[in-house]
Amino acid sequence: MRIAAAADIHASEVSAERVVRAFADLRGEADVVLLAGDLTTSGEPEQAEVIAGACRQLDVPIFAVLGNHDHHAERTEELAEVIGGAGVRLLDRECATCHVAELELGVVGAKGFVGGFPGSALPDFGEPLLRGVYAETSAEAEAIASGLQAIVHCDVRVVLLHYAPVVDTLEGEPPGIHTYLGCDRLATPIAENGADLVLHGHAHAGSFEGGIGEIPVYNVAVHVTGRNFWIFELDGSGVRRGGEVVEVREPPA
Ligand SMILES: [Fe+2]
Ligand SMILES: [Fe+2]
Repeated sequence: MRIAAAADIHASEVSAERVVRAFADLRGEADVVLLAGDLTTSGEPEQAEVIAGACRQLDVPIFAVLGNHDHHAERTEELAEVIGGAGVRLLDRECATCHVAELELGVVGAKGFVGGFPGSALPDFGEPLLRGVYAETSAEAEAIASGLQAIVHCDVRVVLLHYAPVVDTLEGEPPGIHTYLGCDRLATPIAENGADLVLHGHAHAGSFEGGIGEIPVYNVAVHVTGRNFWIFELDGSGVRRGGEVVEVREPPA
């Protein structure tokens, strides 16, 4: 199963041509496409039209989550309509399955949220506003848990996030902003329920590889991968919970 993944495309009218070309280049190279948020520059439906147009060129399943940039204009319902109209399955604290390459793929999609990591963790204490932020991340984590439980039968289980669930893939980012780049509480349900592959974006200056125990985690922000899409190959017979199941290869130029 070839999974093409990218995050932080930040599409706009300005980048339309480049984005459309990037997706066109993917034809025949992937069995499924996963987009890990920040699809648009500032969440305007016109920017989502660019992604929708690019996705319409492909005839493989496409799953996506939104990122913080997609929320900026507070028009996420319109975004969902535009992107959904192009056949993209937008996942917001939910899961979906499909059959690709003779395997059943299950994808749990959630934006994730902030909260930090040991040394930078936001506590569940004090002002209601701050506790609300903590609660929002908790709700994301709960959705990841129930999503993974719902796709437990799938041959390949992927968690698609925007925010980082581990600190490994933030390497390169200033530690002072780790709190805003992700939260280790997102990793807990993944460690508890298992997954074959975890993808996220958001940390443009972060690094590519990390892990939740033996579960591989990749930051697929295009700024990190240095390419339009990174293609992961998962062999159905070899797929199991744990490491060394994900082969990474560079897509053709
Ligand atoms: Fe981004
Ligand atoms: Fe982001």
